[in-house]
Amino acid sequence: MSAPNKSYDPVEVEALKPEEIERMQSEALAAFAAATDLDELASAKTAHTGGTSPLALANREIGALPPHAKADAGKRVGQARGRVNQALKVRQEELEAERDARVLVEEAVDVTLPYDRVQAGARHPLTTLSERIEDVFVAMGYSVAEGPEVESEWLNFDALNIAPDHPARTMQDTFFVESAADGDEKQTGVVLRTHTSPVQIRSMLDREPPLYVICPGRVYRTDELDATHTPVFNQVELLAIDEGLTMADLKGTLDHMVRALFGEGMETRLRPNYFPFTEPSAEMDMVCYVCRGASVGNPDAPCRTCSSEGWIELGGCGMVNPRVLTACGVDPEKYSGFAFGFGIERMLMFRHNVEDMRDMVEGDVRFTRPFGMEI
Ligand code: DAH
Repeated sequence: MSAPNKSYDPVEVEALKPEEIERMQSEALAAFAAATDLDELASAKTAHTGGTSPLALANREIGALPPHAKADAGKRVGQARGRVNQALKVRQEELEAERDARVLVEEAVDVTLPYDRVQAGARHPLTTLSERIEDVFVAMGYSVAEGPEVESEWLNFDALNIAPDHPARTMQDTFFVESAADGDEKQTGVVLRTHTSPVQIRSMLDREPPLYVICPGRVYRTDELDATHTPVFNQVELLAIDEGLTMADLKGTLDHMVRALFGEGMETRLRPNYFPFTEPSAEMDMVCYVCRGASVGNPDAPCRTCSSEGWIELGGCGMVNPRVLTACGVDPEKYSGFAFGFGIERMLMFRHNVEDMRDMVEGDVRFTRPFGMEI
């Protein structure tokens, strides 16, 4: 084993020569001073203080020196590194202060600018369509009636001739809020209304005929939210009670409505159906407003809106069942009436090609904005 190299001179180690250390230090200080932003300073920091920087490499050489030379070389390198780090810190603070000052100026918000930079919002198309429908009927002398969304079971079902064993009463369709108290005959359960038809009953109980009301409103059914179902949706209900009203009046009213909403040339057709609260009852369809029937039997020009049927199903209607009139204290010998009800979401879907009902409930302004700022 050879003895330690007592005569080893650090000056002989190139990287540890005082003028070399001096040069490394002044190059580092010059690089920091030359950095004009924080990114440049970060690169200079890596180059001059990082693990492979000249000063770090020189520092590693110290370990190989004989003990008497270590202190001197260590002091020299240590001082140089201290000055470099200090200079880095000072420059870092300067550049940060410069950046903060610049950001304050560049990103300043002029609160005195006019408002036109604020995007105009839009009313929900369900609201505007619903108001359009109301307008059509208000122009014909109807008044708008409202009822509560939390409704008594009697008004939602019984008074509409929907017997307690009717399928619509089962848990599948209805959100039950409160059940009827046992043994109390007058007590009825409470539900979230499953349709706007109870407003017919409320209107008849509140007012004397003749009666012409339209009721738009929110209704609830225990459906899962998907592209074509939503547990909360909107319906429009119409009720007319007067002397001598017939199904011809109902048909004329429906035709007028579809022309007012979809344009001239539109018409409706009635198909026999059953509803407990109307007799006779019908399903009402309107001419497909996209193809106007042209797609029927024409495979070359299929229509997605009506599945090439030529007709779109709107909702239900009929002559008010005399049992319903009687339950509401209206004399069926003297008065007759017609009613209809349909869903506004469905109408919005085929009127505006909305393909997914979820778009209507998510509240994303990108959905509502294209409908414009209709008042
Ligand atoms: N209430 C029915 C429903 O929600 C729709 C309806 C059908 C309303 C016939 C009516 C009517 O006024 O006469 O399915």
